[in-house]
Amino acid sequence: MVSRTIPVEEFDLVIFGATGDLAQRKILPSLFRRFCAGQMPEGARVIGAARSEHDTKGYRAFVRAALKEHGDTAGVKPADFTAFLEQIEYVTLDAKGAAGWKELKALCDRDVVHAFYFSVGPSLFEDLAKRLHKHGLAGEECRIVVEKPFGRDLESARALNAALRTHFDEGQIYRIDHYLGKETVQNLMAVRFGNMLFEPLWNSQYIDHIQITVAETVGVAGRGEYYDRAGAMRDMVQNHIMQLLCLIAMEPPARFEPDAVRDEKLKVIRALEPVAPDELVRGQYEAGDDTPGYAEDVGEAEASSESFIALKAHISNWRWAGTPFYMRTGKRLKERASEIAVVFKDTPHSIFDEDAGRHRNILTIRLQPNEGIELGVTIKEPGPGGMRLIDVPLDMSFAEALGPEAGDVADAYERLIMDVIRGNQTLFMRDDEVEAAWGWTDPIIAGWQERGDAPLTYAPGSSGPHDALMLMHQDGRRWREIKA
Ligand code: BG6
Repeated sequence: MVSRTIPVEEFDLVIFGATGDLAQRKILPSLFRRFCAGQMPEGARVIGAARSEHDTKGYRAFVRAALKEHGDTAGVKPADFTAFLEQIEYVTLDAKGAAGWKELKALCDRDVVHAFYFSVGPSLFEDLAKRLHKHGLAGEECRIVVEKPFGRDLESARALNAALRTHFDEGQIYRIDHYLGKETVQNLMAVRFGNMLFEPLWNSQYIDHIQITVAETVGVAGRGEYYDRAGAMRDMVQNHIMQLLCLIAMEPPARFEPDAVRDEKLKVIRALEPVAPDELVRGQYEAGDDTPGYAEDVGEAEASSESFIALKAHISNWRWAGTPFYMRTGKRLKERASEIAVVFKDTPHSIFDEDAGRHRNILTIRLQPNEGIELGVTIKEPGPGGMRLIDVPLDMSFAEALGPEAGDVADAYERLIMDVIRGNQTLFMRDDEVEAAWGWTDPIIAGWQERGDAPLTYAPGSSGPHDALMLMHQDGRRWREIKA
């Protein structure tokens, strides 16, 4: 299996925040991988822009060090490094002032695709948009890429959308949710809409409930200040988990095209019911033997945000009325494991004795690690012991089924950056989608703030607070074990 590389046009990609963490960890290594895969045309350039006083030579050395530290550089030839670095330029620039913009304009003065990546704090988004416009860099053909968090509530997201749209059309704005760039997340659409098998059963008549779990082992150390202002609801649910929910619940779009897909996702968000107080559990991790607790990690004794959240959502439409969606995400949990489990209903009638046992089909889509799909199928327990039923998995690990190259799939950022250059917005969030997601999230957050609910505690390395287990138990259901 050889993965296909679709050529892209020549481009100038300007990274604002070029010396920051995201640039070092994700954007530059992703570009380098695309370069090594032969997808970055010879005339393409990456232009770093930041306040730091580098010249191009100094920035190239910086990039080399970042690639060594965060990139996948084993086996890369020195000549490839050199060739990639030659495509990199740098300009010292002030997002809030005049410095550097003339130089940037001069660098970008050529007839290629221009993309401006806002890899900076949200407080600078508006300044950058304004200055791009002022300095004649916001031409019709250019694109801007905006990182999350996209606002912190509906009001701020609306204001940000309005500010960006003063200078750019919606078709030029690429709001990144890196979950949409993950291979397996796109596989959700392939599995649902590329197979006849599942879609006829994909509704509340056949599906008992759906579970979405995004579990992490890391804590919030190092980004405590941001995190405690956000909490898991704003950091993960409003965006990444919402996107997973949309892809799993949406109606089939007529075509795999940006607005057709985004229209369907929007309808899902708009059909979400408010979440009742007893359908939600928040938690904060405690200190472990060698790990600090949440409050210590964020450096705030009174830290009030959640590092874990579990909730039950209802989608009020014909397809899903009566099928709850249970979602949970948290830090410092027992494993790093993300999956979506579609739990089918019992057969309407069992022809077997009660002794045979009863089982349900579960379709599990493993997002990470060990990406793959598993379908639990009920069969007879082998042997002469009568008719007893057991569950066996039809288990497909993508790495095993598709060969070693499957494990070498592009990182989410590689795909998304190349989509920006190609001008394909399918995997980016539209303004109304982001606003609708905040519209659902805001009252939930306001609810716990008004009630003064504090997060419960949970032990590091656990599955979250005990009450999160009860959220399902009270409905006669149970979470799947968090395992990698
Ligand atoms: C980020 C969140 O958007 O996604 C982080 O801000 C989280 O808190 C991360 O750890 C998870 O991404 P991934 O790709 O590691 O699942």
